[in-house]
Amino acid sequence: KLDKCFEMPTDRAVIEDTFVHGANFENWYEKCQSFEMKSSDVWVVTYPKAGTTWTQEMVWCILNDLESEEAQIELMERVPFIEKTQIMGLKKLLRSKLYFQIIYVCRDPRDVCVSYYYHHLKLMAYSGNFDEFFDLFINDVLIFSPFWKHILEFWERRHDDNIFFIRFEDMKQNLRGMIKKVAKFLGKELSEEYIDKLENHLSFENMKTNAAVNNESTFSAIECRKDIRFMRNGKVGDWKCHLNESQVKQINKWIEDNLKDSDFPYYRT
Ligand code: A3P
Repeated sequence: KLDKCFEMPTDRAVIEDTFVHGANFENWYEKCQSFEMKSSDVWVVTYPKAGTTWTQEMVWCILNDLESEEAQIELMERVPFIEKTQIMGLKKLLRSKLYFQIIYVCRDPRDVCVSYYYHHLKLMAYSGNFDEFFDLFINDVLIFSPFWKHILEFWERRHDDNIFFIRFEDMKQNLRGMIKKVAKFLGKELSEEYIDKLENHLSFENMKTNAAVNNESTFSAIECRKDIRFMRNGKVGDWKCHLNESQVKQINKWIEDNLKDSDFPYYRT
């Protein structure tokens, strides 16, 4: 079990300091340096809003029993974040020889941008409008950016035995197929009956009302916008309702510019 590297602060000022100004970073970095990797570790790595929660729950339920009492424990506790260390920590870990497994999840940046905007409104006390947020996103100044560096570093390693690269859009299109692929990657055999249950458990409708995956008691203890749901709408292509024509042009150019030297085939226009 991971050391509690990430504890959700409850005070508004501490939240801002931590997430917006990167306070306590050294603490985290130190913990990461001394963090002991095990070959049996499984890592879920994503840029924010790419489907972290969905994949964490899928992986946990593949490796454990979704009908057990433990499944009722908040997801943050079952699959803790090692946030911030991700930025420089994982680089160190990737270079190590340990044979841990990484499931990397990516999502269309246009949808990530919209989802990340609501995330900022909900949790980060963000007071700007969408247009301002859009500029921050494509200028790669948000926490965990630059967006493409995050994805491409794992894309380039996608053929490594211990890396499994997946997309939010593929989970949406064929959740059952993805459960099977991830289980195979993790060396777990699941019965068709268990897969039926898991597919149902991971549906957006069920995840939306699952208190444990929504980390409800943690979030209810902190100051945040309760009117914005963490499980917002879980759609592919919601950006079409948020980006104006000029923003679509800008972000498409940003995608092309960032992918000009890469064989990454998705989200291009
Ligand atoms: P939206 O804001 O577009 O709805 P993360 O867990 O990385 O923060 O990602 C959150 C995004 O994943 C949210 O996107 C959320 O609705 C979506 N999501 C979570 N569980 C989902 C599910 N079971 N099906 C579809 N989308 C899901």
